[in-house]
Amino acid sequence: MRSTLLAVLASIGLVGCVGGIESGGGADPLDSPDGDGNDNGDNPAGSDLSEAKALFDTGVFPTIAMKCSTNACHSESATGTTLTRFVANDAARGWQIAVGYTALVGNFATSAAPILTMVKPGTHKSVTYTTDEETKITAWLDKELELRNGQPSQPVTTGVESLSQATERVLSKFAGCMQLTDFTATNMADAWGNLQAQGNQECKNCHNNGGEGFIASDNEPQFYGVVSTKKYYFLQYLTVDLTMGAAMAKVIINKTSFKGVAEGLDPHREHPRFNDEVNEGMTALQAFYDRTMARVNTTPSICEPVTLQNN
Ligand code: HEC
Repeated sequence: MRSTLLAVLASIGLVGCVGGIESGGGADPLDSPDGDGNDNGDNPAGSDLSEAKALFDTGVFPTIAMKCSTNACHSESATGTTLTRFVANDAARGWQIAVGYTALVGNFATSAAPILTMVKPGTHKSVTYTTDEETKITAWLDKELELRNGQPSQPVTTGVESLSQATERVLSKFAGCMQLTDFTATNMADAWGNLQAQGNQECKNCHNNGGEGFIASDNEPQFYGVVSTKKYYFLQYLTVDLTMGAAMAKVIINKTSFKGVAEGLDPHREHPRFNDEVNEGMTALQAFYDRTMARVNTTPSICEPVTLQNN
């Protein structure tokens, strides 16, 4: 009986879809190697992300669909000048599209995810969240953070840091140890501003002034001025390793933001391709990171934390 049913399903081409959710490519993002359909390495613990997806689908997608896709801004099919189009047309693909944008989720910490940090100050295009909306976004981000890092997002013991607090602490320390002289010595502005993507297009052609949530410019004071003060831009280059828990939190180079666009992974299908692992920009970033980390790790401390701006 069962085999007959399977044969019937197979004959009408339904077998592969049983239990799955039809999305863009027909596959369930939860079944992808990375757990979210964007195979960019942003789920280091390799967790099943379905609980996080459920919180997004029920508690967050309705809010961003209502508040961020208006006025032709962030909808996937928007025709305006904003190209960070993180609100899917089809709710079934809502989560996959949203989590693929570093510009939206940062490292998923509530202290660093622009979906929250950028809107909370109340200065972003007059958008505000109600308390209920903020609670739901927070619950979703905490779940993503917990699952993707394989660590509890909130401390089990009182008085111990949450992953979100640890994120803020290490980002501030790193930012406070950054120096323009190191930025210059490691050639960051020339390497990133003039880095080429396919078709001889340089990153600065589109990102010179921070368009689309990413800045790459050969204007060194401008480039350094932005990445050393604004969290949103900083997080495209650097992120936080939380896989060993809050106490061991550490700033690392953000490879997932580059992989998504360089390889044209969903939702960055139209982004010009480039080699994201070996290029002048990554060489410069590694050198800048190493110099800054040497200062971070010097004891007694030689640099004071600097709080990065959220907007
Ligand atoms: C022809 C214009 C163009 C060029 C050239 C270009 N980009 Fe982009 N970039 C975009 C657009 C549009 C977006 C926003 C849509 C998207 O993410 O696909 C974007 C987004 C990004 C993001 C943010 C991704 C996220 O998840 O938030 C990064 C990082 C990025 N680009 C890096 C680069 C780098 C590095 C180069 C040079 C090697 C480069 N881009 C060259 C147009 C461009």
